[in-house]
Amino acid sequence: MPRDLIIVNCKQLVTLAGPSVPRVGHDLNNLGIIQDGALWARDGKIERVGTWDEIKTVAPTDADTIDAEDRIVLPGFVDAHTHLVFGGSRAGEFERRALGESYQSIAASGGGIRSTVRQTRAATELELLISAKRRAHWLLRNGTTTAEIKSGYGLALEHEAKMLRIARSLGETGTLRVVGTFLGAHEFPDEFRDRREEYVELLINEMLPAIANERLAEYADIFCEPHLFNTEIAYRIMIAASNLGFGLRMHVDQLNSSGGAQLAARLKAATADHLEQTDEPGMMALRDAGVQPVLLPASVYALGLQRYPAARRMVELGLPIVLATDLNPGSSPTPSIPMVLSLAVTQMKLSVAEAISAVTVNAAYSLKRAHEIGSLEPGKYADFVIHDCDDYRELAYYFGVEPARQVFIAGESVYER
Ligand code: NIG
Ligand code: FE
Repeated sequence: MPRDLIIVNCKQLVTLAGPSVPRVGHDLNNLGIIQDGALWARDGKIERVGTWDEIKTVAPTDADTIDAEDRIVLPGFVDAHTHLVFGGSRAGEFERRALGESYQSIAASGGGIRSTVRQTRAATELELLISAKRRAHWLLRNGTTTAEIKSGYGLALEHEAKMLRIARSLGETGTLRVVGTFLGAHEFPDEFRDRREEYVELLINEMLPAIANERLAEYADIFCEPHLFNTEIAYRIMIAASNLGFGLRMHVDQLNSSGGAQLAARLKAATADHLEQTDEPGMMALRDAGVQPVLLPASVYALGLQRYPAARRMVELGLPIVLATDLNPGSSPTPSIPMVLSLAVTQMKLSVAEAISAVTVNAAYSLKRAHEIGSLEPGKYADFVIHDCDDYRELAYYFGVEPARQVFIAGESVYER
């Protein structure tokens, strides 16, 4: 017997339906909104969306019915950049920054990523799983149903693998959809401080092949900065990753403009992430190579900085922008896509619709998942969220609230306020 589900009384059913390509330019504003909409799903996948008048003529009369009570319904958010698995916290560093230290000076004095590496290595797999589950629930409460999750706080095969197994288990237990990314090139671990070249060799010859063998990650990532993995080293590591079949996502031009965007373009990476310092030639290189920019305004905000990536210019240039939380214990301790929408509009001058396209359909494209998630269209998973608001723009307008009232993954209710 098929399982049928109908959602009725959606004041705005924000479908994001459209041609099967990443959205650019004016199309970022086309949300495919159906007023007084309804959605019919069968066995976890969407059969039809339309007005209630249309759906009631085709959907089975004995379907389970959910009344959205005149609220707003959107696809689940796709958070295409998180570091959700980590041990401990860095609340102390957060306060030190307020009192005058910088992210870079704290890292140089032994804090920063290396501090989280020590805390993550010290944690048991069970402790890490419990804290990761807590954060995964924070994502659900904020309307996110798919998360890309990076390793990068183990920096040794055993601990990187541990992080990726935890990420994978969140997906397997149905908590939310997960895409794993190996970020062994996030920093140089303490024990390789004076032997950096050896760590690069270890990454290329042992860690990447082992992660590929175990199929623990689909993507490989790197923190490309002149003082860490500079563009030359990053090129070698990313080529090795690509040869092993990994898709590439790269942290570039966050702290310095050092040609990171051009490198991502040359490597035909799936995404170039951060881009706070990227100049015009860098943006054009990304566009010409078909690399999607992933913009992380919450990391600028939480570091107390002012320079946001040039999102408006990227839209003008025709780039298929993505927005994500960057959830991590250092630069961006937030699970909230609604907060990211707020920052995108207030600080980066995007329209609410552009920002919503960037956290749904475009984010799904960046993870090669657009055939199954990111919009509410027949054949895709019934991953959707009933938001407690009267107009989709309120998702970015009110901030500091959790608008999601009920969250569904493949037609199953996974969170209800
Ligand atoms: O995306 N920039 C590199 N990685 C993270 C920060 C990691 C950390 O500080 O723990 C980021 O901002
Ligand atoms: Fe990051």
